[in-house]
Amino acid sequence: PPHLPPLIFLYLLFIYILLNAAPLKSQAYFNKTAYLPCPFANPQNISRSELVIFWQDQEKLVLYELYLGKEKLDSVDAKYLHRTSFDEENSALQLDNVQIKDQGSYDCFIQRKTPRGLVLLHKIDSELLVLANFSEPEILQVSNSTGNSGINLTCSSTQGYPKPMKMYFWLKTQNSTTEYDSVMQISQDNVTELYTVSISLSLPFLDGVNNATIFCVLKTQPMKILIFSQPLPIGKAASQGDLFRFMLTICKRKKKKPGLSYEGDE
Ligand SMILES: *[C@@H]1O[C@H](CO)[C@@H](O)[C@H](O)[C@H]1NC(C)=O
Ligand SMILES: *[C@@H]1O[C@H](CO)[C@@H](O)[C@H](O)[C@H]1NC(C)=O
Ligand SMILES: *[C@@H]1O[C@H](CO)[C@@H](O)[C@H](O)[C@H]1NC(C)=O
Ligand SMILES: *[C@@H]1O[C@H](CO)[C@@H](O)[C@H](O)[C@H]1NC(C)=O
Ligand SMILES: *[C@@H]1O[C@H](CO)[C@@H](O)[C@H](O)[C@H]1NC(C)=O
Ligand SMILES: *[C@@H]1O[C@H](CO)[C@@H](O)[C@H](O)[C@H]1NC(C)=O
Ligand SMILES: *[C@@H]1O[C@H](CO)[C@@H](O)[C@H](O)[C@H]1NC(C)=O
Repeated sequence: PPHLPPLIFLYLLFIYILLNAAPLKSQAYFNKTAYLPCPFANPQNISRSELVIFWQDQEKLVLYELYLGKEKLDSVDAKYLHRTSFDEENSALQLDNVQIKDQGSYDCFIQRKTPRGLVLLHKIDSELLVLANFSEPEILQVSNSTGNSGINLTCSSTQGYPKPMKMYFWLKTQNSTTEYDSVMQISQDNVTELYTVSISLSLPFLDGVNNATIFCVLKTQPMKILIFSQPLPIGKAASQGDLFRFMLTICKRKKKKPGLSYEGDE
């Protein structure tokens, strides 16, 4: 029986994968520039003056068109006008001032103009993900009570996207660390579509703990990065006056130093 040599089999498999490929993924930061890829090797070395290259969004609105080597602005939808240009070197469309609404899928078409009309040579589907970095979480003490019962804290972080995975307080003493999970309050700006999140905690003063530090931690998506607040010392060592002094220091430090962050281990 006919038997395919392994190399030909691999080649066919490769072609199969190419034809069934998932859309190309790209990501961009809010208010920054996105690159929507359209890799095209042009094996026949067809001249630009014979090609029509354009990008469409999922509503079939045109972002950009290069018609026989010239930019054609009249087909570009108003919402993309003056925001797009062709990055020839990377064979990608450059989309400026990216908003959360720009998230979605895009198609790039390459057609060849022939005497019999336009022939589609190439179509590439790509998917754009938009990100915004949350601000460094900030702990605030909500009660004015400095009594023996405990303290109430809130922590908030603003203007991020997408929704974070979770937010929690992290209490560190000489001997232990404890995580205090709490339900996130999430609000979304109805213009920018960015999220602001917060949590609260009612923490009794713990017996025997006279030197503890509390952090607020935000775990983001999709990269699972942990963003830490500045440390807040609590407990008997950080009694009334100390606590205020510490909080003043935190406020001052905040303006100068960005929060420490590192990759989560999951
Ligand atoms: C492609 O065509 C251009 C002229 O249209 C020529 O200058 C160039 O050398 C060609 N490149 C290849 C790889 O054939
Ligand atoms: C967002 O945070 C990541 C990781 O901390 C950093 O590499 C990136 O430059 C930040 N982007 C912006 C626009 O601030
Ligand atoms: C902290 O909040 C709880 C309810 O969440 C309240 O009962 C308590 O009185 C508050 N404590 C202080 C010191 O404000
Ligand atoms: C502190 O809290 C008490 C009641 O919980 C309130 O009567 C008082 O006005 C508060 N003081 C300040 C300075 O907010
Ligand atoms: C509190 O503990 C930290 C280490 O966890 C230590 O560096 C610091 O000196 C201690 N402070 C006091 C007042 O005991
Ligand atoms: C911490 O550990 C030390 C020695 O291991 C012990 O003497 C001390 O009581 C512990 N403190 C607390 C708050 O558990
Ligand atoms: C945003 O939403 C709030 C309440 O939901 C509303 O009062 C406000 O007018 C909205 N702003 C815009 C610009 O739509």
